[in-house]
Amino acid sequence: RTVYVNGEYLPETEAKVSIFDRGFLFADAVYEVTSILDGKLIDFEGHAVRLERSLKELDMASPCSKDELLEIHQKLVELNDINEGLIYLQVSRGSDGDRDFVFPSADTKPTLVLFTQNKPGLADSDASRKGAKVISIEDIRWGRRDIKTVQLLYPSMGKMMAKAAGADDAWMIEDGHVTEGTSNNAYFVKDGTIVTRPLSNDILHGITRKAVLRMAEEAQMKIEERLFTIDEAKEADEAFTTSASAFVMPVVEIDGQQLGDGTPGPIAKRLREIYLEESR
Ligand code: PDD
Repeated sequence: RTVYVNGEYLPETEAKVSIFDRGFLFADAVYEVTSILDGKLIDFEGHAVRLERSLKELDMASPCSKDELLEIHQKLVELNDINEGLIYLQVSRGSDGDRDFVFPSADTKPTLVLFTQNKPGLADSDASRKGAKVISIEDIRWGRRDIKTVQLLYPSMGKMMAKAAGADDAWMIEDGHVTEGTSNNAYFVKDGTIVTRPLSNDILHGITRKAVLRMAEEAQMKIEERLFTIDEAKEADEAFTTSASAFVMPVVEIDGQQLGDGTPGPIAKRLREIYLEESR
């Protein structure tokens, strides 16, 4: 793979970041994952705007302009000949060459890293045809989940707990209500109404969420943005998640309880189709 590090396009084996980088030592970094379909970036604008917001919330400098960022994304997709896949971007606060809890001076150069992930068949995955099984776990992450930081240890542990339980993913619960999945936003459908948690600091403001809710509205589907419990979701007709890495993913089982007939529900399937069609 050819990757991008601080202004250079390099073979992945030659790319280097300092061991003092605050992304490495403090998880002092933010990221974005953008999908690629037919060699084209999906909703670059949304991801670029959210990145700017994450940086601003953390008082972190922007590594470059939006236009330059777009150019880097496009060049990497081209150099790596990606037709279907993902592109990962990370900006960290960089380092001034030592470990210190205090932020380095504001003129410290941020570290910008991008790499592609080739995923042929992403739009037509077996996983999406089967649907995902999820378990519920307590949400013990920090309180600013609206900022897309690389503090992903707990979500990663959640995935491992899911795997150990024979499931695919975990939905997290705080104060009795579902927040979101480990790397996606969560929804259920009851009597034709789509229910999902409203935006706040408690969840990531998904770029796919925004697009899918707009498309659902345009398709005259009913939407309720409100808090919901895992028991409500378990009794739903169907459920699904949204993310840049899996688009709309049907959920067919929650904590061992099958939803409907245990296959992807009609609304999730329809929204996946609409999303893939309209965002291309
Ligand atoms: N994750 N919630 C969380 C906690 C996430 O990590 C993500 C995305 C989402 C969905 O956001 P979007 O629709 O903008 O991708 C919601 C990415 C894909 C990841 O960590 O790989």
